[in-house]
Order: sequence, then C-alpha cells, then structure tokens
Amino acid sequence: MEPQRLSLLVAALAGCLLPARGCVICDPKVVEELSSLETNYLPGHLEAKHHKDVMKRVKQAVKDFQDLPIDEDSYMGVVDEATLEKASWSLLKDLKRITDSDVKGELFVDELFWTLRLAKDTFASYAAQFQKEVFCPNKCGLMLQPLIWCSTCQKQVHSCRKSRSCGERKVKVHQMEDMILDCELNWHKVSQGLTDYSFYRVWKNNSETLMAKGQEPTLTKTMVSPKDAGTYRCELGTVQSTPATIIHFHVTVLPKRIVEETPSPNTETQDETAPGEVTLDRPQTSATLQSQSPGPEKVLRHRLVGLLIGAIVVLIAGVVTA
Ligand SMILES: *[C@@H]1O[C@H](CO)[C@@H](O)[C@H](O)[C@H]1NC(C)=O
Repeated sequence: MEPQRLSLLVAALAGCLLPARGCVICDPKVVEELSSLETNYLPGHLEAKHHKDVMKRVKQAVKDFQDLPIDEDSYMGVVDEATLEKASWSLLKDLKRITDSDVKGELFVDELFWTLRLAKDTFASYAAQFQKEVFCPNKCGLMLQPLIWCSTCQKQVHSCRKSRSCGERKVKVHQMEDMILDCELNWHKVSQGLTDYSFYRVWKNNSETLMAKGQEPTLTKTMVSPKDAGTYRCELGTVQSTPATIIHFHVTVLPKRIVEETPSPNTETQDETAPGEVTLDRPQTSATLQSQSPGPEKVLRHRLVGLLIGAIVVLIAGVVTA
C-alpha cells in the first residue's frame, strides 16, 4: 500500500476524531488495520461507490467508542495501557475474523458494523473493570500511575493522591525475639517514580533518628530489648516532593515469652541439633507470628525448670515428713 495514502488516512482519522477519540484508536495497530481494510479488503468485496460512505461510518463508529458516560465507577476518560491493549486486541481479532471469512457486499457491511458495536460494548466493560479495580488503587498516600487519556491519546503519569498518612500500627513483640516493621503496601509494586524506604525512630521529644534507608520495605531488629519499645515511622519516597507512604508503628515490648509445657517428650530434635543452631535456623518471629510454637531449646529449658521444681517439692515433702 502507498505510504502516502496511509499517512493521509491516519491524519484524516485523527482529524475527524479530535477532540473526542475513542481510545482504541490510540493504538497504532487499530489505525493501521482500518486503513488496510480500506485499501486491501474493500476493493474486491464491496462496490467502489460505497467505499467512501462505509469508511466514513467506520470512523464514526470507532469515534463513538468514547461516547461513554463519564462516571466515577465506570469511565473517567482514561485507561491504562493493559486495558487499551486488551480492547484493541479484541477489536483486531474481530476484524480479522471478518476479513478471513472473505464475506462480501451488504453482508460484509452488516457484519462490520455489528462487530464494531460489540467492540464498543467490550471496550466499555474493560474500561469499567479498569475503573473499578485498577484506577488509583491506593487507599492512602501517593501513587504515580501511567495512564492514557482517551480524548488526546496522550500517555501521562497520573498522581493518585489520597490521605497523607497510611495510618498507625500497633506492634507487639516479645523480648529477645525479632521485631519486623513492614512498610510495603500492595500497590507499591505497580507505582512509578518510587525511591527509597526510610525507617526512623521517633523519640518522645519528636526528633527522629534514621535507622535504615533503601529498597528494602521492612525493618528487622533482632533480639529486641525493652529499650526498643516506642514509636517508629517509615516513609517511602517518590520523585515528587510528596512521599508515597507514611506509616507509624507503635512498638510494645512484652516480657520474654513463657513456654507452655508440651506433654509428649521429643528428644529427636534435641539430639540432631545443638541449641545454638536451632536458634539460627528458626524462622524469624515477629508480631505477626506470635502464635508460632516455641523453639525446642526453650522446651528443654522449661523442662529442666520443671524437673528442678519437682525435686524441690520432693525435698520439702521429705523435710516435712521427717
Ligand atoms: C531527643 O531525644 C533523644 C533520645 O532521648 C536524644 O537522643 C535527642 O538528642 C533529643 N533531641 C533533642 C532535639 O532534644
């Protein structure tokens, strides 16, 4: 096909669809396919006198894609790249089905417009799905989401701004166990323009000490002691001046965990590993893992204490009876 003609058609399409474009037309593959329909399929499948009129109606139909009511729950005039890709892929597939079938004349015209009508519904449902599930999914903070504006086909990063703070969390951790502060929210993985996670200790006088900074979304402190109790703050930075996420953690250090005695004796684990190794191999305990069963070395220690108490009771009983 003559490139000049193609670019003319693209320009005509763009011109006739501005300022209201139908989003799928933002995909160059769709523009290309429509022009190919005109140059390669119409001749031989439709009388020449109808070509102009049919193409005019095709362009109108694609333009109508964006005649969707603007609604916060279904369509706000923007979609993401994946949604556009899905919608245009679906349209291209349907157009290919028509051209592959080699259908001619009036039947071809009917099929074509029926397909375009269905494709519009498909686009509307994809757009609604995007709007409900993908558009600004952050409940707090700042998410930078790359989006396509259907009216102009421009791709821009949209700032989804929600409440500045992402809340406060209470964290309880037993002395000598590990404290894990998790700053990651599920939308961090798909947000653009994020920088580092910073963790601060917030003192009573409101001054802060930076404890860690980097890509790691968690702060882990092993073997906590009572002096670790207090307030911490994490902040995930962005390329803008507003941080993506701020979370406060209020950490309470509980007394050393008291281990319940387990009735059935279990000597295997004690024979296999030295107590020191067991401590190292044990997965990190945290506030979220408090229900985890105690380590074998603790069970052993507790059992020894039990034995000692038993011996004392026997001794006292002996003294009393004597
Ligand atoms: C605030 O308190 C912390 C710890 O108690 C101390 O290290 C720091 O110097 C204090 N900062 C100010 C500005 O008073």
